[in-house]
Amino acid sequence: MASAAATSSAASGPPVGARGQDPAARGVGADHFRALAGSLPTGVCVLTTLDAAGRPVGMTSGAVCGLSRVPPLLLACLDTTSRTLGALLQRATFGVNILAADAAWLSDRFAGDAPDRFAGVPWTPGPHGIPILTEGVVAHAICEVYRTVHAGDHLIVLGLITDGEHHPDADPLLYHRHHYSGFQPHSSAERSRTPRDTPHPATI
Ligand SMILES: Cc1cc2nc3c(=O)[nH]c(=O)nc-3n(C[C@H](O)[C@H](O)[C@H](O)COP(=O)(O)O)c2cc1C
Repeated sequence: MASAAATSSAASGPPVGARGQDPAARGVGADHFRALAGSLPTGVCVLTTLDAAGRPVGMTSGAVCGLSRVPPLLLACLDTTSRTLGALLQRATFGVNILAADAAWLSDRFAGDAPDRFAGVPWTPGPHGIPILTEGVVAHAICEVYRTVHAGDHLIVLGLITDGEHHPDADPLLYHRHHYSGFQPHSSAERSRTPRDTPHPATI
């Protein structure tokens, strides 16, 4: 079991712009939120850990991103009703398995109601016994829970990356507006057809 001291911290001070009113009442409605948030394409990960009995558990998450280089942190956002969340906090260690383009079935499996999400899924125990998916991934990271932040109906979990591996030749699975797709790198010919001739500031 990991020794990381997980701390939970609320954002300091009231939410910016709350102005004493209920933020939920001032924000857009749920359908509007889903349409806006779903417009942003994401990668797809399977977060894994062990439950109190040492059984592998996991769930699909698109809300994962790299955060800090020093120390090396990533973040994942989990619904507070998630069953995986409780195990992950208790174990204080988790795996982030970044899915490959041909692994939409793994995303569906770990988001669905199969009685055993790991049935037929190739995996191996990694550091601290954390399940690592061995097929259908472009990379995996092992994280200790570094800090948690409450944000509405989700908990942001910051993970200190202590181990990991990536497969540079594999393409990632993407998720956009409730559909999966693959990754299509722009060829240099396509790039040359961009509307502006002026170089992007980052390339100057
Ligand atoms: C592509 C995709 C991305 C998802 N991203 C998240 C996410 O970032 N956070 C989350 O809490 N649920 C997310 N979900 C939903 C969970 O995977 C789903 O609710 C799952 O059943 C939770 O499992 P659990 O309750 O056993 O932890 C996503 C589902 C899909 C299909």
